[in-house]
Amino acid sequence: MQRLSARQRRCLDAMAIQVWEARATAADTRPSRESAAPEDTRGGEEHRGNWRPLQQQVQECVRCELSKTRTHTVFGAGNESADWMFVGEAPGAEEDRQGLPFVGRAGRLLTAMIGALGMSREEVYIANVLKCRPPNNRDPMGAEVRECESYLHQQVAHVRPKIIVALGRFAAQSLVKTTRPIGKLRNQVFQFEASEIPLIVTYHPAYLLRNPLDKRKAWQDLCLARRILDSA
Ligand code: URA
Repeated sequence: MQRLSARQRRCLDAMAIQVWEARATAADTRPSRESAAPEDTRGGEEHRGNWRPLQQQVQECVRCELSKTRTHTVFGAGNESADWMFVGEAPGAEEDRQGLPFVGRAGRLLTAMIGALGMSREEVYIANVLKCRPPNNRDPMGAEVRECESYLHQQVAHVRPKIIVALGRFAAQSLVKTTRPIGKLRNQVFQFEASEIPLIVTYHPAYLLRNPLDKRKAWQDLCLARRILDSA
């Protein structure tokens, strides 16, 4: 990982993570990603088409019972041609109220984690496996995931991220299609479905709020993701 910028250090402080850094060398004086203009490395937007119909479809979706209890669907947010895609479990109460992903307390920590990588929320794409809130934040059910997963697949096909970060056990198990515990899924590189998009697993920010000692491991996961992306 290249030297951290002042903003990255602030974000790591917000995550309460102390990082030891090597002293600066001449090579480290190149502009950080923070100051660099966002680049689109995939050339051309022709493949993307218009995803307004997909957004509309999600907004009107009644494929499962969650449509009866939701206030808003939560489609996703961010840069439609992002290199990084973060995928959580399902909207919580605040997300259901606002119709946006990760806007509650856990969302603020996710923003800090993204900032620690030298990016803003607007540069990445953030989505969930489920687009509607399960009542009382209960675990999503298998049938709900089956009905909803094609939406996420279409989002991935549209954004074409260079890396996907699954946030938490539920997202990880759904995306990797396994029942293995999260501790056995971290520190490995998977591929998203039949695509060649690398996928790594880390802890959910809500879990990290309850277990701050694991933030250091989450930071290691994000550094692994960064290394994969940088070596692609
Ligand atoms: N938790 C999630 O998994 N997703 C959100 O959008 C908010 C909280």
